[in-house]
Amino acid sequence: MKFKLQHTSANSCARAGEFTTDHGVIKTPIFMPVGTVGSVKAVHFHELKNEVKAQIILGNTYHLYLRPGTEILETAGGLHRFIGWDRPILTDSGGFQVFSLAGIRKLTTEGCEFRSHIDGSKHFFTPERVIDIERVIGADIMMAFDECPPGTADYDYAKKSLSLTHDWLTRCFKRFNETEPLYGHAQSLFPIVQGCVYKDLRQESARYVSQFDADGYAIGGLAVGEPTEKMYEMIEVVNDILPINRPRYLMGVGTPQNILEAIDRGVDMFDCVMPTRNGRNAMLFTSQGVINMRNAKWATDFTPIDPCGTASVDQTCTKAYLHHLFKAKEYLALQIASIHNLSFYLWLVGEARKHIIADNYASWKAEMLERLSVRL
Ligand code: GUN
Repeated sequence: MKFKLQHTSANSCARAGEFTTDHGVIKTPIFMPVGTVGSVKAVHFHELKNEVKAQIILGNTYHLYLRPGTEILETAGGLHRFIGWDRPILTDSGGFQVFSLAGIRKLTTEGCEFRSHIDGSKHFFTPERVIDIERVIGADIMMAFDECPPGTADYDYAKKSLSLTHDWLTRCFKRFNETEPLYGHAQSLFPIVQGCVYKDLRQESARYVSQFDADGYAIGGLAVGEPTEKMYEMIEVVNDILPINRPRYLMGVGTPQNILEAIDRGVDMFDCVMPTRNGRNAMLFTSQGVINMRNAKWATDFTPIDPCGTASVDQTCTKAYLHHLFKAKEYLALQIASIHNLSFYLWLVGEARKHIIADNYASWKAEMLERLSVRL
């Protein structure tokens, strides 16, 4: 078995575990930096390993298929070799991006026709095609092809969409079982639970995906415009049904607060563009609270950006200097802010893991939530 559940918190559903891949072990709970096109924006792999201490990164099937394309990826020997990253990789299926980025032309039971956001060219994704592409990319964890409806979808739409996602999942597993990895390392396929904000649909979906003996399960279609409390409620409903001895991955979530609450409800894996995107926008998440680096008050503050931070930039870079770099529109600002924010996210889930194992997750979470709510 790939996942070993090591400890469940005494007074919550928070869990500590280990997911083993051929590219190394991932200690959960874990945050996975987003590297959509084979690059975590503004952060070199050297820093990702040594400063951020990323254990696994994400790639995106939709983007990688469009550019550089499957031919180049296959010739390179897969994404790990192409980008020079020897730790685990997870690929999202494109289910989300096709619906959010690409202009969808036609959605049928067969698949989805869309236009590239790069040059407008027409493409067609089916569950089988997506699995074939994910084999070529060669990620350790591949996501099933799903439809991710908007947070505002009504019940009838959500129900129809769920039925499509479930049919596609069956086809994804069939193709997955008929094909082999291309590069000698094993690949897992994770199903995705959908069902919008409707409890009965979420339950139906959690039951449906649990029929497949997968190495892990994802919860999708959340943080797409629904109220935060609804998101937490849906996580609880779904995690009540998903197998206990497999990792649960909450897709595209979220703020540090969201992550701590989801861990409390039994989620093990996370990804989000927030630390890198907000970092490039001068917003730092720190152990003292949230900082807007553009604020003029930092111009003369010569204290480190995060005295308790784990990355070397946290100690060597002052707030005054980073403020100056943002004002001067220097690339280095984006790099420092991204390294800092990702290090903070990895530190946060690492601390969560320690406190789960020490059986004091609930009190630690309460203290962290208070600190995180401060705006410096
Ligand atoms: N990323 C964030 N949410 C989702 C989702 O619902 N499906 C997929 N495939 N990716 C996501």
